[in-house]
Amino acid sequence: MPAYIISQSALEHNAEILKSVAQNADCKIVLALKGFSTWGCFDIIRPYLSGCCASGLWEASLAREFFGKEILTYSPAYEPEDITELIEFTSHLDFNSLGQWNTYCDQIMSHPRFIKGELHCGLRINPQHSTGHTELYDPCAPGSRLGIIADRLLNADLTGISGFHFHTLCEQGSEDLQSTLAAVEARFGELLKRPEISWVNMGGGHWITKPDYNRDLLIQLIRDFKKKYDVNVWLEPGEAVAIHTGVLRARVIDVFESEGFHHALLNVSASAHMPDTLEMPYRADVFKVGSIQTEGRHPAVLLDNEQYELGAESGEKTYTYRLGAPTCLAGDIIGDYSFDAPLQVGDELVFDDMAHYTTVKTTFFNGVKHPDIVLQANDGSLKQLRHFTYQDFKNKLG
Ligand SMILES: Cc1ncc(COP(=O)(O)O)c(C=O)c1O
Repeated sequence: MPAYIISQSALEHNAEILKSVAQNADCKIVLALKGFSTWGCFDIIRPYLSGCCASGLWEASLAREFFGKEILTYSPAYEPEDITELIEFTSHLDFNSLGQWNTYCDQIMSHPRFIKGELHCGLRINPQHSTGHTELYDPCAPGSRLGIIADRLLNADLTGISGFHFHTLCEQGSEDLQSTLAAVEARFGELLKRPEISWVNMGGGHWITKPDYNRDLLIQLIRDFKKKYDVNVWLEPGEAVAIHTGVLRARVIDVFESEGFHHALLNVSASAHMPDTLEMPYRADVFKVGSIQTEGRHPAVLLDNEQYELGAESGEKTYTYRLGAPTCLAGDIIGDYSFDAPLQVGDELVFDDMAHYTTVKTTFFNGVKHPDIVLQANDGSLKQLRHFTYQDFKNKLG
């Protein structure tokens, strides 16, 4: 069976870094559930973070059931029944448009939790400052539906609003946050100075746990911002929590040649199990389990007595294969990789960095068997968190 394996020690390593940043910057950091919501791992992360960020009612409900602590909810649009449930337990509720806020503000402001200060409402702002490279992931692209532009806010009645939320980064460094903050200040500085504004949520996309991320700069930026505007600051990373904490293990189930291309068909699908390899798109690192160990490189999760050969670019090593899925989608291809020895049926391949934006996005497309979800504890033992069956496939469809 293919399996996502998530490492407890790697999760703890990331969470420790995030906790120390939160302490040094005097801010709060929560887990963005859209990136990683394998709730069987929440006990590991909970001690380090302040709570979760949810994209709507269902993620917020998951946070309440399995994580606890603070829940920061932001959805681009809410339906009335979502609001009625969310105001009972979310700690922050952020709105994407003045129209949505105006629709629900009376209901919210008359609720006992709002009156007692247990529920805080904010607006997502759009600083119109693009720093990313992929338009699919750029909430500041011209005409974006995400966030309110400054012109719309300047004369608005903000009674009931206590904070602002922006999310503009994707896998980026603190230098990009720095230029974003300059844009936020230039466009929204006057609003930020209002006494009723007491918090700012700087979203996700901060690659805080990457080794070369400039954490000192992040800490300084947050400290300066807090002091200047007298606000509390929140960050809500997803990827930084789970980056380099998990792998997807697959098996070769057929090998053949067609018109000069050597294909290896696996028991996993790019489309169903690692969709960002097609959507971002990006090239995942792949390791072949075998007798060769690539110097200095290994996957995020190591199993006892295994050696790992890193797959190279097409043509770099002697044997190149196009790694493909057992689905009907012609483009369901993970990529072209080369190895020192021919791939054989039964060989195991390990795709690296497959904990974030995978298990939250998987599908049962083509009825391909869904990989198990497994946790590797600190003593190396493996615990199956979830095994999927034909019943799961069937139940999803009717
Ligand atoms: C509003 C919001 N917050 C947080 C995140 C988490 O971002 P990341 O996983 O890149 O840190 C996202 C990702 O799209 C987002 O849209």
